[in-house]
Amino acid sequence: MRKVLLVASAVLAMGSVQANPFDALGCSGCHGAGGKSAIPTYPSLAKSARPDLDVVKALKDFQSGARVDPTMNAMAPMAAGQEQAIADYLAGQ
Ligand code: HEC
Repeated sequence: MRKVLLVASAVLAMGSVQANPFDALGCSGCHGAGGKSAIPTYPSLAKSARPDLDVVKALKDFQSGARVDPTMNAMAPMAAGQEQAIADYLAGQ
């Protein structure tokens, strides 16, 4: 019984990481919890703070080099394939 509970909580913990790639990829380390940044250098990304921000486009532009920022050009490739999941998460923040 105890083992079953341990496995169940491990699966739940993994699920929450997958459901929130923004934290899993370390984005919140700069952009703040929920994409609400307290540091002016790092823009807020939460929908409530940035209603007009197109997160998917910004990430693709950083990946392709169409938009140049040394930090984000290094970070954006890590978000490959998860751009929409990140945008969906931020849309709820
Ligand atoms: C080491 C700090 C750092 C980390 C970690 C980081 N970013 Fe950024 N991010 C920045 C900075 C600085 C900018 C501003 C770049 C600019 O305006 O050119 C930025 C800009 C952005 C923008 C564009 C915002 C706008 O106003 O147009 C998006 C979207 C973004 N980051 C998403 C992410 C995602 C998703 C992750 C995780 C995969 C991430 N960032 C991780 C520092 C970081």
